Amino acid sequence: MVYLNVSMPRTNRLTTQNLPTQLLQMATGFRTTQALYVVAKLRIADLIVNGPKACDELAQKTGAHPDSLFRVMRALASLGVFTQDSENRFGLTPLGSLLVTDAPDSIRAAIVFYGQEFYTAAGGLLQTVMTGETAFNRMFGKGHWEYLSEHPDSNEIFNLTMAQSINASPARRSIEKYDFSDRQTVVDVGGGKGTLIASILNKNPHLTGILCDLPAALETAPEYLKSCGLEERVKILAGSAFESIPSGGDVYVMSRVLHDYQDDKALILLKNCRQVIPSSGVLLIADWVLPEDSSPSQGKLVDLTMLLMTGGRERIESEWKALLNRGGFALKRADVQEALVVAEPFFEPTL
Ligand SMILES: C[S@@+](CC[C@H](N)C(=O)[O-])C[C@H]1O[C@@H](n2cnc3c(N)ncnc32)[C@H](O)[C@@H]1O
Repeated sequence: MVYLNVSMPRTNRLTTQNLPTQLLQMATGFRTTQALYVVAKLRIADLIVNGPKACDELAQKTGAHPDSLFRVMRALASLGVFTQDSENRFGLTPLGSLLVTDAPDSIRAAIVFYGQEFYTAAGGLLQTVMTGETAFNRMFGKGHWEYLSEHPDSNEIFNLTMAQSINASPARRSIEKYDFSDRQTVVDVGGGKGTLIASILNKNPHLTGILCDLPAALETAPEYLKSCGLEERVKILAGSAFESIPSGGDVYVMSRVLHDYQDDKALILLKNCRQVIPSSGVLLIADWVLPEDSSPSQGKLVDLTMLLMTGGRERIESEWKALLNRGGFALKRADVQEALVVAEPFFEPTL
């Protein structure tokens, strides 16, 4: 899962100055996670989109405790999320603008997502490390997908997070760059509301598409695809890819789906795809390809999200190759920078 393309430091070697401060900054990330969560949840940015406002007014509009909200706003202003003037009015900075609900580049949903169930699950990392058990399942008594199907508010936030975060993901850019000119039908497996398939079809007017996912993930797909003018070109199919994957495509896309699962389950998805993909078909997997050395990679942190939330994992190239082979695919390309794996089905020669 996710997911935002936060830029990483260019080196993972810390300077020799202020080492305790640097480490404490890492260790106290909980404060910024929750401060951002509070302002995102209360939609503070929406209230100051037309100009700065005093904290008392913001507190009154959101039902918050004025002094506590002021302290959160002051802390975030010190980090560059808001402006703060001499009369303690708070306004938006370019960073804070990303919290505005309807901004085209909004990441408000992601910030709410990270502050809620994810935050609770993250508190179980030690237990996960000691037992291997997925923290989310222990904390919430069920798996992430089942939980979302029963909690509409969280489901909405999660689906929005996916739709927003894919815009910033390197995988989207690399899939969009793929040459679809001799292809006809794209099947996006676990494609959520359809952000990726819509962008592929918009750039390639000759293509048609099939969007499939669990029912809860598809709730806003018909409306979204209609708003893109694609309702005639994309068929929407609800169901679990563990049961079957729709036939009829010559390009299969799995974006941030296989990393949600350990190899045994990912293998079922690959085998189901292998059953329906034609021999000339191609499978595009938008997931991290982790560097094998200690170089910085956002994927190594996203891997912890998988460990906590779904029990899945990110993979290095050799792991992709082995997994794909077991599923009946040959690895054609695994790109660390582009976070893209390209695979083709192989067929045993008949004697
Ligand atoms: C991390 S999200 C990625 C969504 C989208 N592909 C993207 O990149 O933005 C994983 C998606 O896989 C879907 N998914 C998980 N298990 C699935 C299953 N058994 N069958 C179909 N889709 C599944 C989820 O509902 C969710 O939409």
